[in-house]
Amino acid sequence: MYQAMNATMRTYQGTLPMKSSIIVALGVVAFLAAQSGASAADVAKGKELFSEQCAACHSVQPGQNGIGPTLAGIYDKPAASTPGFQFSGALKASKIVWTASALDKFLEDPQSDVPGTKMPYMGLANAAERADVIAYLETLSD
Ligand code: HEC
Repeated sequence: MYQAMNATMRTYQGTLPMKSSIIVALGVVAFLAAQSGASAADVAKGKELFSEQCAACHSVQPGQNGIGPTLAGIYDKPAASTPGFQFSGALKASKIVWTASALDKFLEDPQSDVPGTKMPYMGLANAAERADVIAYLETLSD
């Protein structure tokens, strides 16, 4: 990020008179703000989305399985490894480890990512919303 900023500063300083440097600095601040706004997943938003779209089936408390398995500690865990839940054969055979990119793929369209999964959820189409939910899942320890 700082390298990018320095490169931007150099480019501007090479092409603009020195007295424009305040405007340039403001431009860089706006550029950085836009960058962080675009990339930062929002845990609080993810938690909200989770309670709307996932919590009916998934607890986040260790050991509490419901219609779906608990998602406590799900991040970086092998799929279908939570004890006490009857997973589908499809998910057990998937060999997935729930990294951010694996979760992103599954949550976008569970049925096409793991054909035969018994998760009755049509998917979360919005990539930014998936990133928020995944950032929240990452905070859940078991
Ligand atoms: C209507 C119930 C339901 C909803 C809603 C639902 N799930 Fe699921 N979920 C399940 C079931 C059932 C499974 C087990 C799937 C299988 O065994 O194939 C599952 C499995 C999963 C798994 C894999 C767990 C593991 O231990 O391997 C993840 C991750 C997951 N769900 C996340 C979510 C998220 C995040 C949401 C909300 C965006 C969500 N689910 C919405 C029922 C649901």
